[in-house]
Amino acid sequence: MSAHDAVEVIIAKRDGQQLSESQIDWVIDAYTRGDVADEQMSALAMAILLNGMERSEISRWTAAMIASGERMDFSSLSRPTSDKHSTGGVGDKITLPLAPLVAACGVAVPQLSGRGLGHTGGTLDKLESIPGWRAALTNAEMLAQLESVGAVICAAGDGLAPADKKLYALRDVTGTVEAIPLIASSIMSKKIAEGTGSLVLDVKVGTGAFMKDVARARELAEVMVGLGTDAGVRTVALLTDMATPLGLTAGNAIEVTESVEVLAGGGPADVVELTVALAREMLAGAGRDDVDPAEVLASGRAMDTWKAMIRAQDGDPDAALPVARESHVVTAPASGVLTRLDAMAVGLAAWRLGAGRARKEDPVQAGAGVVWHARPGDAVTEGAPLFTLLTDEPARFERALASLDGGYDIAPAGSPVELTPLVIDRVGA
Ligand code: URA
Repeated sequence: MSAHDAVEVIIAKRDGQQLSESQIDWVIDAYTRGDVADEQMSALAMAILLNGMERSEISRWTAAMIASGERMDFSSLSRPTSDKHSTGGVGDKITLPLAPLVAACGVAVPQLSGRGLGHTGGTLDKLESIPGWRAALTNAEMLAQLESVGAVICAAGDGLAPADKKLYALRDVTGTVEAIPLIASSIMSKKIAEGTGSLVLDVKVGTGAFMKDVARARELAEVMVGLGTDAGVRTVALLTDMATPLGLTAGNAIEVTESVEVLAGGGPADVVELTVALAREMLAGAGRDDVDPAEVLASGRAMDTWKAMIRAQDGDPDAALPVARESHVVTAPASGVLTRLDAMAVGLAAWRLGAGRARKEDPVQAGAGVVWHARPGDAVTEGAPLFTLLTDEPARFERALASLDGGYDIAPAGSPVELTPLVIDRVGA
């Protein structure tokens, strides 16, 4: 006879009780093995969404999800490790310049990434636009690359937190994604199982993010920082703006190009600022705050590491990237100053152009996406290009254009523009 049964656990949470350690261990294990049915886990997830969890419950839930699979170990490496996780945003290509930059500063970056779903892009989708590049590495290949190059961006294997894989798919179709205990444990179980020594969380806030307001983003950040710290991983979080998309591009190949511009010492100022801010946190977490990432970026060493990282995964860093077959330019309807550019509107447009996927088995178009030619605060001229839409399938333009409708404001020249700082807050010691 088993220690618990699913209905007892569901009723306990339905009635607002705290789950015991033994109930949590049992339900995660039984769900992973298929002994707790999807409909029972759905009911429990909804009870958690409605009634919440104490920090100690979230901590145990996370530990149980880690224990459902393998745990990686990078302690044999000759350098410390640090990783970054972003809760997801539009135009968020930061991992691409950040991983080689931090590696060039002497800290190894084991970055297990995902593919995009919905309006936020996926790091692997972007990198897969580079001819030859492969996302799937064995653990041995990953370890060897971390030692030789210092940075790996690859797909998380099936062995890492399998309970989360199952539960995340279930939450997606049962309206239970938004529960902070479930988001925090989902992200942190994978990051802790990945074996990084320190971790920086980029918690996005704004229309284009999961968390639309600062208070909820801060709560999520505090829970995740607590989980990491309890598990012995030095963890800090930056709350960063996602009301405006990052940089000037959202898509796949076009975001790789923008990232390479940053590594070459150029690129949009906000992408450079966030890359350097996150690099500083990662270096500090790994005990290397003696190195200045801005200097290393300017020296070109991060570009050398980028090329080595791409080559190590069979990609050609010098190859031409795919270009969309069709483009459509949206011009500014008036002259003045751009006062708002909505991240969600841009993200949806890029997604509808084919840069993202609606179902996880869908392919993405490497060349699709949106380029915007101004950021909030910039002057715009009537009739000059404001957006360039890119896709292989012109039938997609109409719906993409509809999502940009109402997604930006232009005010007369000289009007005040309220610019949100990029880094809003920091959580952690
Ligand atoms: N990303 C995850 O990995 N899990 C969540 O629950 C939300 C975002």
